[in-house]
Amino acid sequence: MKILVTGGAGYIGSHICVELLQAGHDVVVIDDFSNSQPEVLEYIHEITGKNVQFYEFNILDEAKTEKVFQENQLDAIIHCAAFKAVGESVSKPIEYYTNNLMTTLIVTKMMRDYHVNNIVFSSSATVYGDPKVVPLTEDCPLGETTNPYGTSKAMMERVLTDVQHAYPQMSVTLLRYFNPIGAHASGLIGENPKGIPNNLMPYVMKVATGELSCLGVFGDDYDTPDGTGVRDYIHVVDLAKGHVAAIEKYSQPGVHICNLGTGKGYSVLDIVKAFEKVNGVKVNYEIKARRPGDIATCYADPTRAKEELGWVAEKTLEDMCRDTWNFAKKH
Ligand code: WQD
Repeated sequence: MKILVTGGAGYIGSHICVELLQAGHDVVVIDDFSNSQPEVLEYIHEITGKNVQFYEFNILDEAKTEKVFQENQLDAIIHCAAFKAVGESVSKPIEYYTNNLMTTLIVTKMMRDYHVNNIVFSSSATVYGDPKVVPLTEDCPLGETTNPYGTSKAMMERVLTDVQHAYPQMSVTLLRYFNPIGAHASGLIGENPKGIPNNLMPYVMKVATGELSCLGVFGDDYDTPDGTGVRDYIHVVDLAKGHVAAIEKYSQPGVHICNLGTGKGYSVLDIVKAFEKVNGVKVNYEIKARRPGDIATCYADPTRAKEELGWVAEKTLEDMCRDTWNFAKKH
C-alpha cells in the first residue's frame, strides 16, 4: 500500500515509518519539523535501506496538502501530526485547537475529494479522563479531559467519527495510545524533546545523562502500591507495529476503536528503579507535590487489539529502559 504518514518525522511517526517500510509499504511523509529534525529521515533510511517520499510543510497549508494527494495515489493515511505538549496547550489553546483540528479537517476533506478511504488516527488514552475502573476497555465511557491537548484529541475522534458516518465507505480507526516510551533498538531514532521534558521517561533520561539534576516525582500519596502514579508504558516499536496491523486489518468500512497498551501498570518509582538497574546508572529524584490534572492509575485492557488485530505488545519494561538509554548515549 502507499501510505501517507502525517508527522512522520516525529517520535512516534518515525517509528511507524520504519515498521511500514519494513513491512513492504510505500511511505509518503508530510512534516514541518516543528517538533522533529531533518536527520530523522536519514536515520529511517539507515535502518530500513529505503526512503520515504518527503514533503516539508504544515498541513494547514491546504494547497500544498492537496498537491500531495494529486501527486500520489494514496491507499491510506496515518494521521500523527499534532501539537502534543499538555502544559503548553493550557497557555496556547488557540494554537492547539487550530493546529490539531484544522489539520484533521483538511486531511479528511482531501480523503473525501481524492477517494482515500482508510485513516488511522493517533488518539490517546487521555480521552478516557480519570477512569472509574481499570483496566480500560474501549467501551469505557469517555471522560472529562483536563487540558486543551486532551480535549483536541477527543474532538478529533468525534470529527473523524462524524466523517465516517457521512461517508460510510470510509474506514476510520482510532488508536488510543497509553504511554509510549523507549526508542528504536538501533539507537538512531527516539524521543529528544527540546528544553525541559513534560513526560516521565525523557526526564529520567536527562537526569541520567546529567543534563538535568533531579527528577521530581509528582506525588507519593496516590492510592497505588507505592503511592506514585501508575501508567501503562508501551514500547514505541510495539506501538508502531500496532499501526501496521491496524492499517492492514481494519480496512473494512466503519469506525474501529482500539487501545494500544500492554495491560500492565508501572509506578513512577518502578520506572526509576528499572532504569537504574538495567542501565547501571543513578537517577536522583525527590518527591514533589502532585501535578494538577494527574490521575492515580491508568492502564489498558489490550484484549481487543489481540483479538481483532492479532497484535500484542512484546517488549518489556527492561527493553524500554535499555533502548531509551542506548538512544541517549548516541545523541
Ligand atoms: C507519567 C507519570 C506523572 C513527569 C501524558 C498526557 C497524555 C499523553 C502522554 C501525549 C505520572 C509522573 C511525570 C515528571 C513525574 N500524551 N511524572 N515526574 O501524564 O500519563 O500522560 O503524556 O502526548 O495525554 O496526559 O504521562 O509521562 O507525563 O507522566 O513524577 O517529571 O509520571 O505524575 O504519574 P501522563 P507522563
